[in-house]
Amino acid sequence: MTHPRILTILGARPQFIKAAPLSKSLRLGGWEEKIVHTGQHYDHMMSDVFFEELGLDQPTFHLNIAGGGHGDMVGRMLMALEPLLIEENPDIVLVYGDTNSTLAGALAAAQLNIPVAHVEAGLRSFKRSMPEEKNRRVTDHLSTLLYCPTQAAVSQLHSEGIHEGVTWVGDLMYDLALQVEPDHDILSYFALQKSQFSLLTLHRAETCDDPLIMSERLSWLADQSERHPIVWPIHPRARQALDRLPSIDLKKIKLIEPVGYRQMATFIKNAYEVFTDSGGVQREAFFHQTPCTTLRNESEWPETISAGWNRLWQDRACSLPPQTERSLPLHFGSGDAAQLIEASLSRFARDVLHLTW
Ligand code: UD1
Ligand code: UDP
Repeated sequence: MTHPRILTILGARPQFIKAAPLSKSLRLGGWEEKIVHTGQHYDHMMSDVFFEELGLDQPTFHLNIAGGGHGDMVGRMLMALEPLLIEENPDIVLVYGDTNSTLAGALAAAQLNIPVAHVEAGLRSFKRSMPEEKNRRVTDHLSTLLYCPTQAAVSQLHSEGIHEGVTWVGDLMYDLALQVEPDHDILSYFALQKSQFSLLTLHRAETCDDPLIMSERLSWLADQSERHPIVWPIHPRARQALDRLPSIDLKKIKLIEPVGYRQMATFIKNAYEVFTDSGGVQREAFFHQTPCTTLRNESEWPETISAGWNRLWQDRACSLPPQTERSLPLHFGSGDAAQLIEASLSRFARDVLHLTW
């Protein structure tokens, strides 16, 4: 009896978070999982904290590749991943989301004819200029198994001619949101009270790397902070962007270091409202039923908007519908995405790869 072997390629904060519940299910399903950390995110509060807090196994391989432009980063990742994959020869390679680490992992594996499983397949912003849009489109078209968090993602893949291997499983982030135990100490630490503060995150290249967009967003947010002070756990890309801007009066926006997952969930649950350009934080605001303004003009998560909990930047002058008219997160599965993905991977390993364990 041999265990089926899966190699998981992670690099960025949201990937460590999503990997935690699925890793647990893989272990229970008898898989031997090895984690490759590309190194894309490397600060303690962007990486290690999630392994410790969410009980994710330490990476077996660490590539230590970070920084540089897209070609530089992806190129170095490919050069490191190819020999590693040849040496390890896993049954399946698992990638998450739409980062440079996702693309490098999928491409390296697909070129070696190792089946790629993509978690968060089928999402689109339809904005080609975003690096993530290119990463996710290419990854989907390289993947053998495509795990969709929403039905809209399934339809999108079908419309692109991808039918085989597509499964709607729900959102791993929803699994986690249902399970998370809040850490109320973080509220007292910053002297915050429920609904008396708002929360901000910003990190997208399309927002931070354009000084006009960044200063426009920040001026508006600074005005919003006069109603409720805004807590901003600042991502390193936004910190760099802020340092490049001429001094700007942030009024009652309070900058803090990035926080852990439980602390962040506590902020989101207790905030009066959330402002973000993050994909994960938009959904978490929805799961914890906190109104959200997405600081972009498009979203990969239109369900959160049609449910009445989220609005786009261009609609910021329009109020959200009253709470009684907003719907609950039924679109995102039943909180068992991790089990469904593991069951599907096992079926593939037995029926297609003819593995027994
Ligand atoms: C990346 C992903 C984005 C994802 C986000 C999650 C790509 C193209 N983008 O964006 O899709 O939503 O992660 O947070 O892959 N840095 C540090 N310390 C760290 C991590 C990053 O200082 O621990 C610095 C880097 O050196 C770099 C900048 O932050 O200068 C941006 O990091 P990078 O990983 O390139 O992109 P993100 O904006 O984090
Ligand atoms: N997050 C966190 N600490 C922070 C900011 C975010 O734990 O200081 C979590 C957040 O709750 C969500 C995930 O990180 O689970 C989202 O990651 P990010 O916004 O970096 O990327 P995206 O989801 O946009 O790809």
